[in-house]
Amino acid sequence: MSSETLKRNLPRFELDEVRSVARELYGIRGKFSSQSSERDLSWKVRLDDGDTVVLKIANAAEPEAIVDFQVRALEHIAARNERLPVPRMVASANGRPYEWIESRGGDRHILRVLSYLPGDVIETRADALCGRMRFALGALVAELDLALRGFFHPAARSNDHLWDLTCCLELRAQIELLADAELRALCHQVLDHAETSVLPQLQQLRWQVIHQDADGRNALVDSNDPHKPVGIIDFGDMLYGPIVAEIATIDTTAEDEPDPVGCLCATAAGFDSRLPLEEAEVDLLYDATLIRHASNVILIGARDAIDDSHGYLSDTGKYADILRRMIDEGRDRATRRIREACRFPVYASIAQHETSAAAGYDALARKRTRLLGEVVHFYERPLHFVRGEGPWLITPDGRRYLDSYNNVQQIGHGNAHVAKALYRQSSVLNVNTRYLCDIVADYAERLTADLPDHLNACVFVNSGSEANDIAMQLAQFATGRDGALIMDEAYHGCTETTMELSPEVSGRFDHIEYLEVPDMYRGRFAADADAAQKYAADVERALADLAQRGHQAAAWMVDTALCSNGVAMAPDGYFDLVAQRVQAAGGLVTADEVQAGMGRLGDFWGFRAQGLEHVDMITMGKPVGNGHPLGVLITDRALIDRFAALIELFSTFGGNPVSCAAGMAVLDEIERFGLVGKGVEVGDYLRAQLRELARRQPLIGDVRGKGMIVGLEFVTDRERKTPASAETARLIDLMLAEHILVGKSGPHHNAFKMRPNFAWDRAQVDLFIAALDKCLDQLTRQ
Ligand SMILES: Cc1ncc(COP(=O)(O)O)c(C=O)c1O
Repeated sequence: MSSETLKRNLPRFELDEVRSVARELYGIRGKFSSQSSERDLSWKVRLDDGDTVVLKIANAAEPEAIVDFQVRALEHIAARNERLPVPRMVASANGRPYEWIESRGGDRHILRVLSYLPGDVIETRADALCGRMRFALGALVAELDLALRGFFHPAARSNDHLWDLTCCLELRAQIELLADAELRALCHQVLDHAETSVLPQLQQLRWQVIHQDADGRNALVDSNDPHKPVGIIDFGDMLYGPIVAEIATIDTTAEDEPDPVGCLCATAAGFDSRLPLEEAEVDLLYDATLIRHASNVILIGARDAIDDSHGYLSDTGKYADILRRMIDEGRDRATRRIREACRFPVYASIAQHETSAAAGYDALARKRTRLLGEVVHFYERPLHFVRGEGPWLITPDGRRYLDSYNNVQQIGHGNAHVAKALYRQSSVLNVNTRYLCDIVADYAERLTADLPDHLNACVFVNSGSEANDIAMQLAQFATGRDGALIMDEAYHGCTETTMELSPEVSGRFDHIEYLEVPDMYRGRFAADADAAQKYAADVERALADLAQRGHQAAAWMVDTALCSNGVAMAPDGYFDLVAQRVQAAGGLVTADEVQAGMGRLGDFWGFRAQGLEHVDMITMGKPVGNGHPLGVLITDRALIDRFAALIELFSTFGGNPVSCAAGMAVLDEIERFGLVGKGVEVGDYLRAQLRELARRQPLIGDVRGKGMIVGLEFVTDRERKTPASAETARLIDLMLAEHILVGKSGPHHNAFKMRPNFAWDRAQVDLFIAALDKCLDQLTRQ
C-alpha cells in the first residue's frame, strides 16, 4: 500500500454549489451545516419545512457499485426491520436513489440524501460512556446485523478500504511511518499474530455484510438519556466480513479508560444477547480488537506523518494507550472475561493460550474447600476439567484424559444435540407438570413405546435416588409391606429410603435383606453348572430371615449391571429366577436401570439384556439426560393413580420440558447413530483385547461384562484369586499418569469398573490397552 492510498482526497465543492444542486435535484432548501467524514463531503440540512436531512457527496474515487451497495443495504434493512434506527434513503425529485454531479474540476460525484437521525454522537458525550450504554449499543448493532443477514451485493466484497480488519496486513508498510519505536514493535507484534493465527481462524467463522464502523463517531445516544443508543449512521465502511470484526469495531473506549477489556466485555455481551456468538468467535474477539486498535494507531499515525489528517481522527495516542493496556491484560485473562460476560464456561476453549494453569489450580482448590468444605475426590490431587468432548475430558492446559469411568455422559461428553435441545427448550418455555406440555407427554410415550403393556406410565423426577425412593414407596403402598430385598453391596441412592437400600455406603437395616451376589468368578457356585438356581435359592433364605425380624419384602430392587459388585456377571437365567421367587412371595420387582439402562448392557433396557421377563417397575437416572439431572420411574398407570389418589405426588422440577427435551435428544442420538449396537461392537472388542492382554499380564484375573460395561479384576495369584487390592489402587494412579481415568469397585476394591461412553471407538480401546499394558509392566517392575 502506498502513502497515496492514505490520502483522503475529499471532494471539492463550495457551499453555494451544493445548495444549488440540492435545490435543483432534490428540491431541498434550508440551513446547511458541514459534518466531518473521512472520504465524503457531508452536510446536515435543516429544511425550511422543519425536517432535517443529510446530504452526501461521495469521493470521486468511490465506484458507483459501492454507493449502490449502501443504498440497497439501507433499503434491505428498512424492509427487514423498519424500527431499526438507521438512516433511510431520500429519493431525488426524479425518483432516483442518487444523482450524479460534476465538480468545477470536471470530476463526477454521486450525490445522495438520507434521513437525519436525532441524537448525540457518542464521542461528544463523555457522560454516555458506561457499561449499560455499551451493552445496549452491542445489542443494537446485533439487531442491525440480524437485519443484514441474507443481504448480499456484488460490491460487498470489493469495498476496499483501509479499515477492513481482514486486510490488516496491508498496513504493515505504514508502520514504519510511526515515530515511536516501541509502538512500531507493538503494531508488528499484533500483525504478526494476525497473520499466523487470527486471520486464518477468522476465515473459518461466520461472515456476512456488516457495518464495521459502529464506533463512538457513528453511533448516537438519546440527548436526554445518553446511556440509550438511538442510532447508527455512516455505512461507508460496510462490507462482507466476519461477525467478529463487527464487534471489534464497536469501540467506545475513552482515552483514559483504565479497563478497555471491560468495555469490550459489555459490548460483546450486548451483541451476544441478540445475536448469539459462537465460542470460536468469542475466543477471537480479543485478538480482533487488538487488530482494530493497532489499525487505528497505524492509520492515524501514518496520516499524521504525511500530514493528511486535517483534524479528522488525529489521536494516535489514545489508541496506542488502549492497545498497550489491552496487551498488558493479556489474552488469557481478557478472553476469560469476555467468555464470562457472554456466559460461556470460563476456561473451556482457551487451553492453547493457558499459561498459568498451575497457579489457577491451587487458587481454585483453596476456594472450593473454603466454600464447599472437604469433598471426596477420585484422586488425591483432584483433577480440574474445563471441557468434555466425546470420550475426552480436558484440563485448562489442554491435556486430554480418556474417560473410561463416567456412566452419566453415556452418549459422549459435550454432546451438541443435547446442548442445543436444552438451550432451545429453555429459551422458549420451562414450567412444571401442573400444566399441559407436549414434549413431556411425547417423551413419556417414547420411553414406554417398546415396553410391556403394564409398564405404561412415567413419574418424572430429578435423580436416580428420587426415582428409586418413589419406587420403594409405591411398592410399600401396593403390597402393604415395609421390607425389601436387595443385592449385597448394592447402591441405590442417597435419600433416606434409598440409603437404607445402599449397603455399599450405609449400614444394615432390619427391614432389608441382602442377596448373595451371583459372582461367577470367585463366588460359592462359580464353577457350578447349576449356579443360577443355587444363587437364586438365596431368596428363600432372605425372605425367611426378614420374616424372622418381623418384615416382609415389598420389593426386590436390583441394578442388573451389578455395578457396585465389581460388575459381577450373573449366570444366565439368574435374574429371572429371583424375580419369579420374589413375585411368587407377593413382592414387586424393580429394575434399577440407572447404570444398566439406555443401552449400557447391549440392549436399550438392562433388564432385557439380563433376561428378566417381568419387572413391575423401572427406574432410570444418570444417562437419561446425558448429564442433565433427570430421573424416571416407569410402572403401571393404575398403581400410580391409586397412589396419587392418596398422596399428592408432585416434584417441582420433575418432568419439566427442558429436562424432557434433554431426554428426547439423548434418545435421538441413540437411535440416529445406532449407539446400542455400536456399544456392543466396541465393548466386545475391548473385552477381547483385554483377554489378549491377560495372556501376558498375569495380574489380570478376570475380564467380564456386557455391552459397554466391563469388570476387570486384578489378582496376585490366579489360582487362589488373591485380590490385588493395593496393586489396583496403584494402577489407577499409573493410568492417570497416562491420562486415562478409571475407577474401582467390588468388595476387595480390586476390580476396574469400566463404563466407557458410546463416543468410544476401537481407537480409544487400543489406547487404553496400550496404556494398561505399560502400567502393568511398570507395576511388576516396581
Ligand atoms: C444403580 C444406581 N441406582 C441409583 C443411583 C442413584 O442415582 P443418583 O445419584 O442420580 O441419585 C446410582 C448412583 O450411582 C446407581 O448407581
